[in-house]
Amino acid sequence: MEKIVIKTGDSVSEILVGAGWEMVHELLPESGVAILTDRNIFRIYGDKFPDFPVFQVDAGEASKKIRVVESLAGELLETGIDRDGIILGIGGGVVCDLAGFLASIYMRGIRCAYVSTSLLSQVDASTGGKNGVNLDGAKNVLGCFKQPEFVICDPEMLETLTEEEYHSGLAELIKTALIGDRKLFELIENNRAGISRRDPGLLSMCISMAVNFKAAVVTEDERETGLRRLLNFGHTYGHAIEMYKSYRHGYAVAAGMELASRFSLSRGMITREEFERIKDLLNSYGLLPGHDIPDDEIIHLIMKDKKKSGNDISFVFLNGIGKAVAEKITVKEAAEFYIQSKTDK
Ligand code: GLY
Repeated sequence: MEKIVIKTGDSVSEILVGAGWEMVHELLPESGVAILTDRNIFRIYGDKFPDFPVFQVDAGEASKKIRVVESLAGELLETGIDRDGIILGIGGGVVCDLAGFLASIYMRGIRCAYVSTSLLSQVDASTGGKNGVNLDGAKNVLGCFKQPEFVICDPEMLETLTEEEYHSGLAELIKTALIGDRKLFELIENNRAGISRRDPGLLSMCISMAVNFKAAVVTEDERETGLRRLLNFGHTYGHAIEMYKSYRHGYAVAAGMELASRFSLSRGMITREEFERIKDLLNSYGLLPGHDIPDDEIIHLIMKDKKKSGNDISFVFLNGIGKAVAEKITVKEAAEFYIQSKTDK
């Protein structure tokens, strides 16, 4: 097991990669714990959960709503969870986002921790303290930063993910490799069979590389005023595609990464060979679904992105594989490139 520490302000968050998830029993206090999970996770692992009250939500993005947070807060209150309590999220990105958001506002803030059960949440969503809910389909518009006390990332839990959930997580892993770690990109590129059969040793290595990169970024820039923006690579178009097509997050981000790589190529920031390698890797996991957003819709969808500031957007380009840079461009430029790219294919 590797322990990766993220220190921000006055909080310390420990990410435990490669640990068996049952170690959570040793990390919890004797009382004051509420467990938040989804119905799928509860069906698979519920009988091994620590013996505390469990609150279940429906699996999927539709649960990331303020109404769900309100109803969970009422249940916590009824159960007697007070300011010394802790919310343990056992689940993927949706559960961790909800648990973190609820913990940050319940009684003006209580502690939280996660057992992160999906690849997407292990390599990205559960670390770094971002949480939130959606508003009328606009992603994560209500939210805040709250670091979990610990996050357990057990690669053996990834065995029970559906192919679609697993591949969706691979997209975020590939994103981290593209923006910050060329060696990770080559590891994924050269070990496609092992990645496809979910080899726990290989996955542990990949998750650890991704979390180490993210920990360094978040330690330097928790509130996303600079470096952390790079983690949004692929997300400008990705969120638009996710809103329009209702794809799983990773699939939409993968499509967004293909577009952002194409944009980087058009500016001479990556070579044609690098672009083809990126596309080939995404394609090999079936990660490039179609997304023909009508020309008059794309600008409105990009306008809903919370990274927008006035008419500008901080857009992440690649500067070779393993390096990225955020540049201000107008929403109009981003929309025009999308429209033009339809004819380039
Ligand atoms: N998922 C992007 C971030 O944590 O900043």
